[in-house]
Amino acid sequence: MTPARAEIVVDLAAIRHNVRVLQETSGVEVIVVVKADGYGHGMVEVAGAARDAGATWLAVATPDEALALRAAGDTGRLLCWLTVPGEPYAEAIAADIDLTAYSVAELDEIAAAAESVGRPVGRPDGRPARVQLKVDTGLSRGGAPREAWVDLFARARAGEESGHWRVTGIWSHLACSDEPEHPANDQQELAFRDALALADEAGLRPELRHLANSAAAILRPSARFDAVRCGIASYGLDPAPGHTPDLGLVPAMTVRASLALVKTLAVGDSVSYGHTWTAPAPTTVGLVPAGYGEGVPRHASGVASVGVAGIQRPIRGRVCMDQFLVDLGPEDHSTPHAGDEVLLLGPGRHGEPTAQDWAEACDTISYEIVTRIGGRMTRTHVDSDTENAHDTVSRDETR
Ligand SMILES: Cc1ncc(COP(=O)(O)O)c(C=O)c1O
Repeated sequence: MTPARAEIVVDLAAIRHNVRVLQETSGVEVIVVVKADGYGHGMVEVAGAARDAGATWLAVATPDEALALRAAGDTGRLLCWLTVPGEPYAEAIAADIDLTAYSVAELDEIAAAAESVGRPVGRPDGRPARVQLKVDTGLSRGGAPREAWVDLFARARAGEESGHWRVTGIWSHLACSDEPEHPANDQQELAFRDALALADEAGLRPELRHLANSAAAILRPSARFDAVRCGIASYGLDPAPGHTPDLGLVPAMTVRASLALVKTLAVGDSVSYGHTWTAPAPTTVGLVPAGYGEGVPRHASGVASVGVAGIQRPIRGRVCMDQFLVDLGPEDHSTPHAGDEVLLLGPGRHGEPTAQDWAEACDTISYEIVTRIGGRMTRTHVDSDTENAHDTVSRDETR
């Protein structure tokens, strides 16, 4: 394989390891969240690794993501939760996807879709569609507001009785799980328990009640119910920096590049657009062929670092669309050369920064760093558990 100028390498063994750690830590079903192209790690490959680790359930946001997983051969339980009116509900029902409804209007639309799919209603195999209900317990984002719960549950039960669907889950999402002491966590959990009691009164008996994302799955045992929805921790990143105990999660993503050029700078030479940095002493800089066109945040200009030969070196000047400069220090026998490796981020085992380090430098969260990285980079999946990782390399050239 020719060396890539800039590439993402994802270790599927790390994904499997993290999913198993989360299963053991939570003691309940772990729904592995693979939306947004698996947080930038590759949805289909991550889904396969999660299934290999024993994940019965996966979750995505959109029906298109769920249908793409089915097209790729995934046959397990699969939840999707963010639809707009007119989504391909019928296709999703036929593909055995668990849909989420936030409102009676959405249930009505799903009922019509179920009728179009099967006779009398439901999937072509005669079984009913599967629907989960999302209640808003305080995030004030998606989900039915409290005043709509009774009607939503009554309509959902009626749909069960008419054979349109089975209600397989009731769930909600926390606003502040990465701040374990925040009072909203208790308030939302209480509200969720109220919703479950009302659903029970309406005669609903869902197989999965779920509230927790990664942070709550780890930090809030009372919020685990029947399942936890884990995204970021499945990728080995810390869901609640400063609060999460060391569980031995392993970041699955490494981003590397080859230096395009190394040059010397004299005192007073300024670099990149706007000349925001000027060399205070003679130094060498390396040109890294990745920029905001690859999802390297422009906010990293002058504040983040990359790993070169085991040492973290500062980014100098502005990150451009295709490239940025890294300060390699005064020229000597150890000065790197064009073609040498730069580690933008990774697990941190070779002195490189982590996605969390980038997040802190850029005033964002690791989710955004890994999800946005990509653009023209190639993405390769390896499996460090196999003896010869290169036997299992798959390069996604479509990126
Ligand atoms: C509804 C819902 N549940 C679970 C998750 C997973 O969250 P995390 O990545 O923090 O585990 C997300 C991610 O944004 C989400 O939107």
